Amino acid sequence: MIQINDHFLKLRASYLFADIARRVNDFTEANPGKEVIRLGIGDVTEPLPQACRDAMHAAVDELGERETFRGYGPEQGYPFLREAIARHEFQARGAEVRADEIFVSDGAKCDTGNIQELFATDIRVAIPDPVYPVYVDTNVMAGRTGPDRDGRFEGLVYLEATPGNGYVPELPSEAVDLIYLCFPNNPTGATATAKQLQAWVDYAREQSAIILFDAAYCAFIQNDDLPRSIYEIPGAREVAIEFRSFSKSAGFTGTRCAWTVVPSDLYASDGRGGRQSLHALWNRRHTTKFNGVSYPVQRAAAAVYTPEGQEQTQALVRFYMENARIIRDAVSDLGLSCVGGDNAPYIWIQAEGSSWDFFDRLLNEAGIVCTPGAGFGPCGEGHIRLSAFNSRDNVNKAVQRIRSALA
Ligand code: MLT
Repeated sequence: MIQINDHFLKLRASYLFADIARRVNDFTEANPGKEVIRLGIGDVTEPLPQACRDAMHAAVDELGERETFRGYGPEQGYPFLREAIARHEFQARGAEVRADEIFVSDGAKCDTGNIQELFATDIRVAIPDPVYPVYVDTNVMAGRTGPDRDGRFEGLVYLEATPGNGYVPELPSEAVDLIYLCFPNNPTGATATAKQLQAWVDYAREQSAIILFDAAYCAFIQNDDLPRSIYEIPGAREVAIEFRSFSKSAGFTGTRCAWTVVPSDLYASDGRGGRQSLHALWNRRHTTKFNGVSYPVQRAAAAVYTPEGQEQTQALVRFYMENARIIRDAVSDLGLSCVGGDNAPYIWIQAEGSSWDFFDRLLNEAGIVCTPGAGFGPCGEGHIRLSAFNSRDNVNKAVQRIRSALA
């Protein structure tokens, strides 16, 4: 019988959010008629901006005419979208990123999961704890770790984010080759200052390491002094790959459109004394394994950068950030310590007791779904995450219910 890739067997049986969905289904089956409010997975609730819908409709109509029909597009994305992203997201903020360094894709989850294919199996990988589980799980699948020992995989270097360091991990004390960073952070909502990011960039340059910078939530940054892109930091072009997404800021979680920046200045060793361009390798990978995001979706994404699109997406961000403020205020009023929710749509709360117990308590007593911090790693134990992605009515109802359950 053919043998499986048994690195998969090192993983927990199911992905964190699938696990939570199963528990919530069990609860709703056992409690029919009890309304559940989901502040667990960060999935948007508000409709697509009108500018995006109009652009998508027009693109569908183009596909309906022989003269304007299109088949396969460029795997890396259409120039109209790559150019708009480069101009608005990077060049407008003084960050040097060219359109041809942008790879449009169907999601930051897929890209942060797939990018590790570019690197050797025996590299040293540093991963924050708590962390978005995709970074860890994909390295486990690729055989870069030993077994799971009490929630930590042998062979990974864990970068602890704790109340003591404001949930911004310190530089590792040992040498590493690949570093995952996420700011604004999922799950903690913490942000990194330019000085903190500069320290990481300097470290990566000294160690000839590569930083994988997940900035999927950067549109939620309210404080103008905080960097949105790692390329705002001098020297980052030679050491960092950045991941971005339209999912949360423009409501594209179901529509699917994201991008990854792989600068042309980025090189890694081929192990034989030579150096290879990571841009060329990712282009090779992308063109082999991906056939591009659909034309109507790319047109919808490009509409984000029209004046109407900018206004509408900024309104969406403001809406979710007001939800975040409401949640954060309610939680603080209850005397619980929390971070996030000011420059990120997640509120990271120190729970009373274990995070799964607190998850059960909120579900059973308030009908609220949160994400237990332990699902993001051992340092997440004793915390829960609440997401600001929901309707205003649900958020208001949720905070009332949390107040009554925990008061
Ligand atoms: C989350 O809740 O952490 C996110 O929705 C996960 C994702 O974007 O894949």
